[in-house]
Amino acid sequence: MNPNINKIDLLSNNSLDLSKEYWDEERNEKPKFRFDLGLELISKDNKALKELAEFKQLLNRYPNLVKESSDILSIACGNCWLEFNVLSSKKYNSFTGIDFSYHRVHKYAEIAASKIIQNCNVIDLIYGDFFNFNSEKKFDVIILSKAFHHFDEPLRLLRKLNSMLSEDGIIFIMGENYFLRRVRFYKFLAHFPKLILRKSYRDVSSLFPSYNDLFPPSYTKGDINYSYRDYCDLFTRSLFKHERFIFKEKPSTQAFILKK
Ligand SMILES: C[S@@+](CC[C@H](N)C(=O)[O-])C[C@H]1O[C@@H](n2cnc3c(N)ncnc32)[C@H](O)[C@@H]1O
Repeated sequence: MNPNINKIDLLSNNSLDLSKEYWDEERNEKPKFRFDLGLELISKDNKALKELAEFKQLLNRYPNLVKESSDILSIACGNCWLEFNVLSSKKYNSFTGIDFSYHRVHKYAEIAASKIIQNCNVIDLIYGDFFNFNSEKKFDVIILSKAFHHFDEPLRLLRKLNSMLSEDGIIFIMGENYFLRRVRFYKFLAHFPKLILRKSYRDVSSLFPSYNDLFPPSYTKGDINYSYRDYCDLFTRSLFKHERFIFKEKPSTQAFILKK
């Protein structure tokens, strides 16, 4: 079954081009993309394969989740390589991918869709900000791969996801930063010389560093580091039950499966 591929643009009339924020380095991405599509057999890192194995492991927990009637949504989908590979052996109704990086979603994702054959009726590739995306449709599977920690309004994101997920649907949040105990300990030790060098040692509260003090956000990359307690709090406030999975192999990551 050859899917209809629709390219939808939610951003062109928007004066604020969000793709210029930190996702516009198409040049840097080309070699990785060639590997992703099997055009190059050697990759300098096997991160993509690690992510694929982890996603397969999570999806295998729900062998009956993806059905012929399933509607699947990937948020901040990038080139969709991961999703299309994991889904390539399944039949499903539709796939919607949304990202505000033009080249990822409107150039590479289309190539990925045609190279990695998809057994579905329709693929919508949307260039836009997820917060501007509305759909009547409820989704059975929602995927956020290396995406959740890039959203600066996580609670708003989760509440929107809750309204878009079907009653027995499942959300996969993958590729969240996870710091091994050893790394957390080094960061803790490094905190005190930093305090003194920055002459902020008089602030008594900084003697008990918060997670955020140890792992501050990176505004250039758009990365926010949440503690496990932060995740629990966000999931509870958006009325989700969750399960957590830790992948310790380098680069260590964590994943969450959410249900209503
Ligand atoms: C680290 S990449 C992950 C891409 C892909 N999911 C993967 O696993 O390779 C993060 C992506 O999030 C997208 N993004 C971040 N915030 C977004 C938003 N509010 N709406 C749509 N896309 C967003 C960026 O354009 C970027 O492609």
